[in-house]
Amino acid sequence: MSADYKVHGDVAVISLNNPPVNGLGLSTRQAITEGVEKAAQDASIKAIVITGHGKAFSGGADIREFGSPKATQEPNLLSVIAQIENCAKPVVAAVHTVAMGGGLELALGCHYRIAAPGASIALPEVKIGLIPGAGGTQRLPRVLGVEPALNMIVSGEPIKSEMLAMLPGQKLFDKMAASPESLMDEALKLAREVADVRPLPRVRDLPCKHPQGDAYFQFTRNMVKGMAKNYPAPPKCVDAVQAATKKKFDDGMVLERELFINLMWTPECRALRHLFTSQRAASKIADVPDTTPTRAIKQVAVIGAGTMGGGISMNFLNAGIPVKILETKQEALDRGIATIKKNYEAQVKKGKLKEDKYAQRMALLTSTLSYDDIKDADLVIEAVFEEMGVKETVFKQLDAVMKPGAILASNTSTLDVNAIANFTKRPEDVIGMHFFSPANVMKLLEVVRGAQTAKDVLATVMALAKTIKKTAVVSGVCDGFIGNRMIEQYGRQGGFLLEEGCTPQQVDKAIEKFGFAMGPFRMGDLAGNDIGWAIRKRRYVEKPNMKYSKTADLLCEMGRFGQKVGKGWYDYQAGKRDAIPNKEVEDMVVKHRAAMGITARKISDEEIVQRLVFSLVNEAAHILEDGIASKASDIDMVYITGYGFPIYRGGPMLYADQVGLFNVVQAMHRFAANPHDDAEFWKPAPLLAKLAAEGKTFN
Ligand code: NAI
Repeated sequence: MSADYKVHGDVAVISLNNPPVNGLGLSTRQAITEGVEKAAQDASIKAIVITGHGKAFSGGADIREFGSPKATQEPNLLSVIAQIENCAKPVVAAVHTVAMGGGLELALGCHYRIAAPGASIALPEVKIGLIPGAGGTQRLPRVLGVEPALNMIVSGEPIKSEMLAMLPGQKLFDKMAASPESLMDEALKLAREVADVRPLPRVRDLPCKHPQGDAYFQFTRNMVKGMAKNYPAPPKCVDAVQAATKKKFDDGMVLERELFINLMWTPECRALRHLFTSQRAASKIADVPDTTPTRAIKQVAVIGAGTMGGGISMNFLNAGIPVKILETKQEALDRGIATIKKNYEAQVKKGKLKEDKYAQRMALLTSTLSYDDIKDADLVIEAVFEEMGVKETVFKQLDAVMKPGAILASNTSTLDVNAIANFTKRPEDVIGMHFFSPANVMKLLEVVRGAQTAKDVLATVMALAKTIKKTAVVSGVCDGFIGNRMIEQYGRQGGFLLEEGCTPQQVDKAIEKFGFAMGPFRMGDLAGNDIGWAIRKRRYVEKPNMKYSKTADLLCEMGRFGQKVGKGWYDYQAGKRDAIPNKEVEDMVVKHRAAMGITARKISDEEIVQRLVFSLVNEAAHILEDGIASKASDIDMVYITGYGFPIYRGGPMLYADQVGLFNVVQAMHRFAANPHDDAEFWKPAPLLAKLAAEGKTFN
């Protein structure tokens, strides 16, 4: 049973018991209805209290049931709530810790609600592309007032119970308990006080009005549409809440249901639900169970105070973990620390960080030129120059000084983590932690598992990623790991498109319209075109037979390295990020095209988008086959959190699934027939070809 039934004198207490958050799965719903029925039949019971065991009242729908027939099987949540609302004896919800989504809707179906302070209250459905579907849009406005309720529904953000209790005229909570500890006693007391009150109060019977009516809803609808381009759910939240003010309760419920079901089948909702489950799945590693012990990380050392070292350090300072940065020269240390200070000061100026917090964080930061000072760190992250010789020196030093059990991590973006591990006599303690720039901002952390990395080291780093609020995805060892290995193919396509007739802004605009935060050329300018140049120079030696576009090399020969020098594919003005098209660059592309004997052709936005996105997909299929990524959804997480892939499309793999893998493969055959493209690359990866032939999907 996923709920217990206990009798306290004349009050029955039903406690949801479905860890971790008392999700309202089928067995929990059954247990609630059985409990309510039993209490209703028992003449010695005068009232019922519903609460939750452990760490939640209820977190809402059970995500393990998502998409399965169980999710809607009777008693579904609507029936459970109707049974409670129509129960002849008063039902009191005793809310604590978390009441979200269906959990809050369940509480709203009860006749009375008492809450402990500190409980997080939300209707977060909008975050997975939905609206609340069990009466939330009809009942919340009746107890909170239209505006506060709509704000909660459109944002999906949690609000603390005590804040809601302070809203004038609110009827969400009949009472606030003095503390979480006293909640149960106070709930029993309330149940006895109301045991004989009739008629029983029902939220559905409360009036729901807004003084400015239509004008308010029109204003809100315009605002929401502007903010939520490409997302269908937020405007539907407005429609549903407006219905609460205009229609009879039952008619409003019908509309809510209709809107909910229609949203469920939109690609955006599928994408957002996919991300929700992918995020959770990313932290699960098949051969590293949740019970794997972890090592305590109380002190961190960072080697190198450059671009990455500084940003990496800030993550730990923000989480309250002391950091010591090591450099070879005092000037480099001073520069690095000054940059960290500047970043924090900018946050203070914008009001995003309080002065005292800033001081606390800086107090956790120390620096040194001596390895002896870092030997007691539990984790050391190396972020020195991307040269194997330098990495070798550093890791040999670390091996010599670090205490036993310390985790030795490298932030390398391209080098072989196994080779780095073998510079030490403790390769089991070595792991890759590949942060993305700016490291204090970007969510993604690729955790690179070496051939010998110990399971507890991997488990520790995955847990630590949560502490520093990163989305960690495990990658095997290969050049570029998951993300950069794929982006190299995408960049190559960008080059071919220029040779065939596009301008950089045409390519960027097409893919930005598709939803990418930035096209390949603006991204190159941001990351530094010299980085790609260095990688290509290596490729020319390693893979001399691969087809390359020379446009990016010609750009670098012009010294146009990107934003850092004020010019790249575009021009930049100091202090501004606007990309201004440059005639010299366009002339260079035209001249190069002529030299190759190519006559420019008009290329459609559709072709641009398909070539760029499917190049990611084909390389990703190879990555899956090679076991570098363990699941397709991990690749989607990498692209959403690290590369600006549009969230509402769910990542490259889900997008390919939605287009249909058969269609993706057909497109690849067309691209392979283009003499100016790379036919070898466009051979569909065997895994992709197989799935397409079998009518299957990646996810
Ligand atoms: P950077 O050049 O800005 O900083 C490197 C720092 O390391 C410099 O301050 C230098 O003085 C210091 N250093 C060099 N040798 C050292 C030694 N033996 N001991 C201590 N300090 C030493 O480089 P950046 O961009 O921070 O890159 C560092 C690492 O992070 C590289 O492995 C790079 O591939 C990787 N990375 C870089 C990304 C980026 O976007 N810049 C993204 C992800 C990873």
